[in-house]
Amino acid sequence: MELSAVGGPGQRLLYGGDYNPEQWPPEVWEEDVRLMREAGVNMVTVGVFAWAHLEPAEGTFDFGWLRQVLDLLAGAGIDADLATPTAAPPPWLTTRYPDVLPVDDHGNRYSHGSRQHFCVCNPTYRRLAGRIVQQLAAELGDHPAVRMWHAHNEYACHVPYCYCDHHATAFRNWLERRYGTINTLNDAWGGAFWSQHYSDFAEVLPPRMTPAHANPGQLLDYKRFTSEAFLEEFLEEKKVLKAVRPDIPLTTNFMGFRKPLDYFAWAREMDVVSTDNYPDPADPDSPALSAMHYDLIRSLNKNVPWMVMEQTTSRVNWRERNVPKSPGQMRGLSYQALARGASGVLFFQWRASRAGAEKFHSALLPHSGVASPVWAEVAGLGRELARPAPWAASEVLARAAVVFSWPNWWAVESTVSPAHDLTLVEQARWMYLPLYRRCVTLDFASPAEDLTRYDALLVPSLYLVTQDEAANIRAYVEQGGTAVISFWSGIVDEHDQVYLGPYGGPLRPLIGCDILDVAPLPPGDVAQVQWEDGTTTTASFWLDIAAERQDRNATILARVTSGPWAGTPVVTRSQYGQGHVYYVGTRLDADGLQRVYDLVPALRGIADFAAGRPEGVERVVRRSPGHDYEFVINHTDSDSKVLLAEPGYDELGERAADGTLALGRRGVAIIRH
Ligand code: GLA
Repeated sequence: MELSAVGGPGQRLLYGGDYNPEQWPPEVWEEDVRLMREAGVNMVTVGVFAWAHLEPAEGTFDFGWLRQVLDLLAGAGIDADLATPTAAPPPWLTTRYPDVLPVDDHGNRYSHGSRQHFCVCNPTYRRLAGRIVQQLAAELGDHPAVRMWHAHNEYACHVPYCYCDHHATAFRNWLERRYGTINTLNDAWGGAFWSQHYSDFAEVLPPRMTPAHANPGQLLDYKRFTSEAFLEEFLEEKKVLKAVRPDIPLTTNFMGFRKPLDYFAWAREMDVVSTDNYPDPADPDSPALSAMHYDLIRSLNKNVPWMVMEQTTSRVNWRERNVPKSPGQMRGLSYQALARGASGVLFFQWRASRAGAEKFHSALLPHSGVASPVWAEVAGLGRELARPAPWAASEVLARAAVVFSWPNWWAVESTVSPAHDLTLVEQARWMYLPLYRRCVTLDFASPAEDLTRYDALLVPSLYLVTQDEAANIRAYVEQGGTAVISFWSGIVDEHDQVYLGPYGGPLRPLIGCDILDVAPLPPGDVAQVQWEDGTTTTASFWLDIAAERQDRNATILARVTSGPWAGTPVVTRSQYGQGHVYYVGTRLDADGLQRVYDLVPALRGIADFAAGRPEGVERVVRRSPGHDYEFVINHTDSDSKVLLAEPGYDELGERAADGTLALGRRGVAIIRH
């Protein structure tokens, strides 16, 4: 396959965005293409929501206008990422076939007039989606401008869950395949509780509105089923597209930490993993959260490239108050993605719309046109990215990974939990952010994958863990790895059924104490934590009620010293095989967590690196056989000075960099060592 279309080692960096020429008269298209060239745009996504223009009436197709656009793009040397339009069925379709519209858990049917208004299990939707994809591929797939396939747009974005009768049928079939007999399902779901014992698959429903909590096993399986149902539709599109042009890479745009789809499973099907990222410019933590988003995306399929499919040049339009990016912020965040391994940065969208729901969403070409300061930044970045980028062939170095799984995410936030405000992403942030601040680059890893490439693992609340996953983590530690495991891990099996005994289930051999119960703390409560050396830090949110175990090779590093559970161990260090485990039974404050990380060599970061990192400056190291490249990004609106461990050469600023690197506000340097 022609992966060069996606850039990657030694290739060009992709730059561009969603292009919606159907929103503009043809006379604008020539100007679009001229300005794209001026801005250094080399790839645009076309067709994403164009179903009504490509098939204006059932079975009547019009590909002429899009061919004309592709001709213009090809003439200007701009590649097209050709998208299927299946995320926005046209009004004729849902008027004629109203049951294509999805149904919510209260039984209300959605209307057309927006987008994503389809039921993925509806046979008519599947037939008509399949046909438009087939026609599009046949008509335009071999056009010379087309260098990438883009299936659909943000699967499961607005309506992740449909509860209609088509879903009920498909869910029952899925359950029958999974469980074989109804009694196996009853056992898996705990059917003895609240008289939920089924006598036939035909009685099973999607988890529609119920008077009280729905069955957690049913909820979990509905999430598994839904992720697979969307994936099945994606795979149908993929099959058609690949049959026509197997030589070009295919993607669909993910949304970072997005709960409904198991992106580890989805990413296996991608030639290039792509994502849409809209950090809030007003949130001081947004660079860190954006870094975490990119580290996840890079990690989903470690064998293929990844790219930013969408971000914004300035404002979005869907927050309560849409703060613009400050001058230079778009460039800084674009380099953040590139530093963390992206093959390119694309945006939503090329030209700001005049009409429609997103008319006040910013674009590469704003309403005010080339006079806008945004345009100057867009063209400046485009020029810069067109320069040779030897660093693009280097590898992102990550010695440690955060263990993350979607089934765990689905289960841990189920309706029945000791703390309904325990969210997995918050748990991951809690463990990730101190390391981001120390310039430690992390991967993410599924608990089922080969973990031995990492020196350390962070395990935030791995509540649902299968026996196989737990065996994988145990084997990793046994062979010499280090794991930092947080509270509320190893609690249930794949059916969301509790592992009995002290908590921890198949992870218990790793845990240096017996967790006998758990105590979520009242909001605002702060507990005192005392360390071996007598110093104290604080903790909040949660406390394991744990007992010491004499039969394990464990040291108690810290205990809680306030409140009703004073004396309880909250941080233990234990040995297991050749490796070590730090178990953290409470939400330590950043200082406390850092004390644990300081004990783990792979998490110490580059100490002088961190010391030489002023607040708000991000540093990422990449390695190639010849050189290390150190990306230094000032995410603040003030000038900054950064201490470099060794002198080097700033590839972006084209200047020598000795001990101290001066970075202007929002400045970026790529230091070659
Ligand atoms: C998503 C969608 C785009 C657009 C942007 C707006 O990423 O894919 O079509 O709606 O959000 O931020």
